[in-house]
Amino acid sequence: DIKGFAFDLDGVLTDTARFHAQAWKKTAEEVGTKWTDELAAGLKGISRMDSLEMILKAGNCEHSYTHEQKAQLADEKNEYYKKLIDTLTPEDILPGMAEFLMEVKHKGYKLAVASASKNAPIILERLGIADMFDAVVDPAALKSGKPDPEIFVRAAELMNLQPCEVIGLEDSIAGIKSINGAGEVSVGIGDKDELYEAAIHFASTAEVSLSTIQGDPYFSKS
Ligand code: BG6
Ligand code: MG
Repeated sequence: DIKGFAFDLDGVLTDTARFHAQAWKKTAEEVGTKWTDELAAGLKGISRMDSLEMILKAGNCEHSYTHEQKAQLADEKNEYYKKLIDTLTPEDILPGMAEFLMEVKHKGYKLAVASASKNAPIILERLGIADMFDAVVDPAALKSGKPDPEIFVRAAELMNLQPCEVIGLEDSIAGIKSINGAGEVSVGIGDKDELYEAAIHFASTAEVSLSTIQGDPYFSKS
């Protein structure tokens, strides 16, 4: 039986995925990496330093920067990103997600946030939903980021649930792999081709509800 939900933040609860992309695009231009849809999709869900490495590798210039220069590039990206999220308010919760959070909370499900972002706590405050969650995984305390299962395994632990009792919601392929690897049920929200490994798929957050999830063919198969 499903007893809890683990939510990705950027691109699931709010549209900050586009701010991350906007900020990384600037970094890519600075280091001379061509910005493509493929690179943008591959960066979703990936930690700050892993994202930078991916951008440098895509431009074949990962060896041209010292450790300090890389730290500086990541800092600059984060400063720019922080300006972009400065204006977030509860209005910026993605369509249907405030209602979904209330619905599952009211029905007694446990709720956790499984975001790779060190900015997650501040974003949850700005959106006015920080109090809804039983747990927020601290990404700084993890050995490996998405697509490694660790973050979603930790989310289940913090909710005191078995992975098979948890549904994870994600907009990134790295996140879907992490949920599947953890042994949880994956819900992919966004482009179907990009999220082909998701157990359950929705084109947008507006379609997400307890009844659309429970009514998905995935559950009648088992
Ligand atoms: C994830 C985003 O949620 O957090 C990634 O999908 C981002 O794009 C990652 O790189 C790390 O975020 P932050 O805020 O710690 O740089
Ligand atoms: Mg995301």
